[in-house]
Amino acid sequence: MDSCLRILFIILLEKDKHIYSRNVQKKVSMQLIDGKVTSAKVKEELKIEVDKLLEAGKKRPHLAAVLVGSDGASETYVASKIRSCEQVGFKSSLIKQNPDISEAELLKVIEGLNNDADVDGFIVQLPLPKHINVDKVIEAIDPKKDVDGFHPINIGRMAKGLPAYISATPFGVLELLKRYGIETNGKHCVVIGRSQIVGLPMSILMQRNAYPGNCTVTLTHSRTTNIKEIALQADILVVALGKPEFVTADMVKEGAVVIDVGLTRVKDDSKKSGFALKGDVKFDEVSEKCSFITPVPGGVGLMTVAALMHNTLLAAKKEIYG
Ligand code: GUN
Repeated sequence: MDSCLRILFIILLEKDKHIYSRNVQKKVSMQLIDGKVTSAKVKEELKIEVDKLLEAGKKRPHLAAVLVGSDGASETYVASKIRSCEQVGFKSSLIKQNPDISEAELLKVIEGLNNDADVDGFIVQLPLPKHINVDKVIEAIDPKKDVDGFHPINIGRMAKGLPAYISATPFGVLELLKRYGIETNGKHCVVIGRSQIVGLPMSILMQRNAYPGNCTVTLTHSRTTNIKEIALQADILVVALGKPEFVTADMVKEGAVVIDVGLTRVKDDSKKSGFALKGDVKFDEVSEKCSFITPVPGGVGLMTVAALMHNTLLAAKKEIYG
């Protein structure tokens, strides 16, 4: 009887060890892509560059941000951009406008910034009120100062592989892939969402003959009938459609790299702010399956701001257009 119990105990111990090693293996094989640490590192590097510029007697880089209205999320994003300017040693200007500003008046503000020699680059925070034509506004920005990389000239130049401002969110994603040494060559990258500021440029960048790039890219969107089937083929899955927790574990291939660009405010009375930030990926279940994943918050969002700082430094140094 005693030996029977001992054998049973050994069997249970072995089983437990097996489960433990499987779990440990899972934990080791999934790596979190930390946007907080990476963006802080990028900003430290930028600060060193700014100090060098100032030591060389050059002027302090200057970013201006135009904010129309008082949308809570937009105010938060712009505040974070202004704060980042301070961290890297830029001058910043916040130009707040009433939500009822006319399109013509806003175009005048843009013209003023285009002609202001002290401003190296500027952004107009989106979305804009419905009565303003966003394309008209973006096209009014001097491409040389378009540090958001939204102007058709910058998008066209980027698509052709010419020097251009690359829009901040896709640029931030590329930087994360690079800094985490993620292989992209020959991989299948599936992008979910075709927005002008994320999905579309992301798909163009991932197919370029460059690193990160050289992927076979599939761009899916709201009219794609078999998103799950396509997502399951992704080695690299970039999700940018703004639907909280849209991507579930059954849509992700084992070992895939998952980049979550979503950032939606969802009502949550348990939070002091009254809302929680949700990504487009169901993190808890998807993270069990992938090799790398970005969290929300703490992932791509912070890199977007760091990328904007990077573009502003390029503008100050006149590195894109001379
Ligand atoms: N709204 C959401 N993301 C962005 C961004 O990257 N730039 C601007 N200007 N507006 C945004």
